[in-house]
Amino acid sequence: MTHDFDPLQPETFDSANGEYAELRARCPVAHSDTWGGFWALMKHADVAAAATDWQTFITSKQNVVPKVAFTGRRPPLHLDPPEHTPYRRAIAPLLTERKVARLEPVVRRICRDLLSDVVAKGGGDVVADYSAHMPIAVFAHWMNLTNDAVAELTRVGQRYNIAVQSADMDATKESSLLLYDMARGIVADRKANPLPVDEDVTSALLATRVDGEPLPEEMIVGTIRQVLVVGIIAPSVMIGSIAVHLGRDQVLQAKLRADPALIPAAVEEFLRLYTPYRGFARTAVTDVTIRGRTIPAGEPIALVYASANRDDEVFEDADQFRLDRPNMKDSLAFGRGTHSCVGAALATLELNIAVEELLAAAPGFTLTGEPKPTRFPEIGALSVPVAFEAVGVEAAA
Ligand code: HEM
Repeated sequence: MTHDFDPLQPETFDSANGEYAELRARCPVAHSDTWGGFWALMKHADVAAAATDWQTFITSKQNVVPKVAFTGRRPPLHLDPPEHTPYRRAIAPLLTERKVARLEPVVRRICRDLLSDVVAKGGGDVVADYSAHMPIAVFAHWMNLTNDAVAELTRVGQRYNIAVQSADMDATKESSLLLYDMARGIVADRKANPLPVDEDVTSALLATRVDGEPLPEEMIVGTIRQVLVVGIIAPSVMIGSIAVHLGRDQVLQAKLRADPALIPAAVEEFLRLYTPYRGFARTAVTDVTIRGRTIPAGEPIALVYASANRDDEVFEDADQFRLDRPNMKDSLAFGRGTHSCVGAALATLELNIAVEELLAAAPGFTLTGEPKPTRFPEIGALSVPVAFEAVGVEAAA
């Protein structure tokens, strides 16, 4: 099998996008020998079709490249229908737009608290000081965790994130097991003290019945373990990438600061342009031939959402930021089909407020160094050094 690209090559913040543009043109169904070998779909049409056809492209074998799930199945992402359905149904009502809108003041307070320290210092790292913390705090609130559990999740969640990003398999395993312990603790606590099912995801999972039977407890623990991580890494990376873009484009930065009503549309476009995932995976149950290339049954296939969303065949001038794109519904930032992001409304709320508060915190900010990129399975910013203009500077100028 050919080795069309190496995901372990050193990258800059922007370089993967150039490489993916080249692969889309030259080798849109690519193969890499890295991590035991995997395929990568680079074109929008192919990624969308595979995500939609869950009967052929299953997730229950390997749901991410590189494979990091050593520790059991974690619904809903690791299951195919019909097993997937009850977990998704239990979670989804707690993540509707209406439900998460109530978290707005909490998100705003968390953002302001984090930013006030960084702005007071005149600058810092948008990711390490801001975006890596905010989603964890919001998430802990959404899950009704105690203050102690929030502190623990912050600590372990960050360790897990760093371990995955640095491809340190031993540390990934170790922190994954700690997250499992946390999930087990949360489930035990809700069993003893249930909360209303329309307010608490763990209680909703515990109350779910399939043919009169409760869901297996280990699978409920797996679900909690899944959402503990899936909901915290992508927003952190995304906010970092948005800060890079706004640091480079001072005109857009000033425009959004002056007119925050434009921020939701800008965030949608940022989600397309800096789609934070490239490694969600499927496995075909039969041999499949795409664009003349045959992928044998049983081999992992990465759906490179980040590449699909910069496909010129779907998005005109795809590498450019545009506020007024007519076809934003084609964006695959939140995936598509059965496993599409159930947390999209919460993620969007977090991103909108995070950007609003970042812009409101000071009259301006600039990049003070090269942003550091994340690695597979994410793509985006891991570190974004910035300096904030002092309040009053603009008025005095
Ligand atoms: C910028 C933020 C986010 C982005 C871009 C994002 C993106 C995605 C994508 C692309 C998928 C599809 C995975 C696949 O195709 O295999 C997904 C699934 C999922 N996301 Fe998100 N996500 C974000 C934030 C969140 C948040 C805040 C939550 C909170 C609960 C969340 C929960 C989930 C869950 C549970 C799944 C699995 C759904 C299923 O298998 O049915 N995500 N996400």
